[in-house]
Amino acid sequence: MGKPTAPRPPAVPDLKTGADLLSVLPMTAEIKGGHLFIGGVDTVELAREQGTALYVMDEATIREQLREYIKWTRFHWKDVDVVFAGKAFMSVAMCKIVAEEDCCLDVSSGGELAFALRAGFPMDRIYVHGNNKTPLELAECLDAGVGRIVVDSFEEMDRLSTLASERGATQKVLVRVTPGVEADTHDFIMTGAEDSKFGFGRNQGLAMQAVERAIALPGIEFDGLHMHIGSQIFALNSFAKAIEVIVEFIAEIKERTGVEVRMLDTGGGLGIAYGLPDEPSTIKDYGKVVVDGIKEECEKHGLTVPAMAVEPGRSIVANAGVTLYTVGSIKEIPGIRTYVAVDGGMSDNIRTSLYDAHYEALIANKADKPREMVATVAGKHCESGDIVVNDAPLQVPEVDDVLCVCATGAYCQSMSSNYNKQVRPGVVMVNDGVARVIIRRETYDDLMKCELG
Ligand SMILES: Cc1ncc(COP(=O)(O)O)c(C=O)c1O
Repeated sequence: MGKPTAPRPPAVPDLKTGADLLSVLPMTAEIKGGHLFIGGVDTVELAREQGTALYVMDEATIREQLREYIKWTRFHWKDVDVVFAGKAFMSVAMCKIVAEEDCCLDVSSGGELAFALRAGFPMDRIYVHGNNKTPLELAECLDAGVGRIVVDSFEEMDRLSTLASERGATQKVLVRVTPGVEADTHDFIMTGAEDSKFGFGRNQGLAMQAVERAIALPGIEFDGLHMHIGSQIFALNSFAKAIEVIVEFIAEIKERTGVEVRMLDTGGGLGIAYGLPDEPSTIKDYGKVVVDGIKEECEKHGLTVPAMAVEPGRSIVANAGVTLYTVGSIKEIPGIRTYVAVDGGMSDNIRTSLYDAHYEALIANKADKPREMVATVAGKHCESGDIVVNDAPLQVPEVDDVLCVCATGAYCQSMSSNYNKQVRPGVVMVNDGVARVIIRRETYDDLMKCELG
C-alpha cells in the first residue's frame, strides 16, 4: 500500500530535535524532560513497561482525522459516507472508534469482516472489497447483512446473484471501474491500457457490460460505481481527472440504460507526511476537489448529484502511530555507514523493504537533543534487506535507547508477519495520559497455536 513519495536528498545530520518533527508525529506529541510524550504518555516509560517492539496509536489523532473527513466532505454535499479502509489498521478497538465517529468501514476479506462483527460494527455501514472474494466470503457477507459489496468480476456477480437469490435477499452492489487514470504522487498518468487486476476498464466496454449485468441479475441491486486510483497521492488533480472520467461514464450509463447512478465511491488515496519535506494536501482541500468536483461534473452532464463515499485509510491512521524499539547494537563500518540494530524489523514494518519507504526517526529518550549523525536503522531478521529506515538523521544512539520510528500507524501492523517466528508487537492506544493495550504482544504459544505436531 503505497509507493515512496518524492526522491529524497542525501541524508545529512540535520540537527533537528523531536520538536522539529511534529509534522510527522501524532497531534498530541510533545517533548518533556527530554522524552517524547504521545497522548500525555511518556513513550520511554511505556517502552520499558510494555517491552519493545511496540506500536503506539494516538486516539485523539485518529478521531480528529475521521472528523475532518466528515466535516470537509459533508460541508460540500449532505450525503457522503466516510468509509475507513480497514486494511490500513484493523483492530476491534479501531472498529469501535470508527463506529462512534459515525463513519463506515471497508473490509477486504472474511477475516476483516470477522473483526467488524466482533466489534459490533453496524453491518449496514460495511463496504466489502476484494478482487477475488471467495464464495464463502460472499456468503458470510450476505449472512451478516453488509451494506454494499463492491463487485470486481463477472464471475463474482453471478456467484453473488445465486447466493443472494438462494437466501431470498437483494444485495446492494457497486461496480468497480478502472477509470484509466493512474495517480502518480505528484501528478496523474492516463493509462489507455487499463491494465489492472482490479475492476472493469471503460475503454474496452467491460465496465458498461458489468453495469448492465448488475442491473439485470436477480438478487443484486445496482447501487452505483466505485473507483480507487492509488495511494499516497499528493496531487489533487489526479482525483479531479478521474472524477471527470467517471462522471462521463455515469452519463453514458444513463443514456444507454436509463438508470441513474445513485452512489459514487471515489476510493481512498490521500497522501500523508512520512518525511519532513513531504507536504500533503489537506483533508479540507481534498473534500473540495472531490465533492465539489463530482457536483460540478454532474451539473455539466445534467445529472442528479449522487450519494458519495470516500475511503481513506492511510490519512486516518498513519500519523497517529509510531513504533518504539530498543537499540540492541551499533555497528560502525568506517567510511561506509553505521547500522543501529533494533528488536523488530521487516516483520513489523515491511514497507521499507517492499516500497523503499522512508521514515523519520528519533531517540525517544533524547528527544530534545539534535540529530547529529546519520545511521541506518536495521531490523533483526535474516535478510540484508531488513531495514527499517535507510540513512536516518538521528541523535547519537546508545545501547538500550528507545528508538521511535514516526508515522507507522498505517499498513505496518496490518502487514506484519511472524517471519523468523518473531512474535508480533502489541498495540497500545494512548489518550489523555492513559495507555490502553488494544492488541497484546504475541507469545510463543500464539506462534504454535495452529501446530498439530
Ligand atoms: C479500494 C481501496 N479503498 C481504499 C483504500 C485506502 O487507500 P489509502 O490508505 O491510500 O487511503 C485502498 C488502499 O489501497 C483500496 O484499495
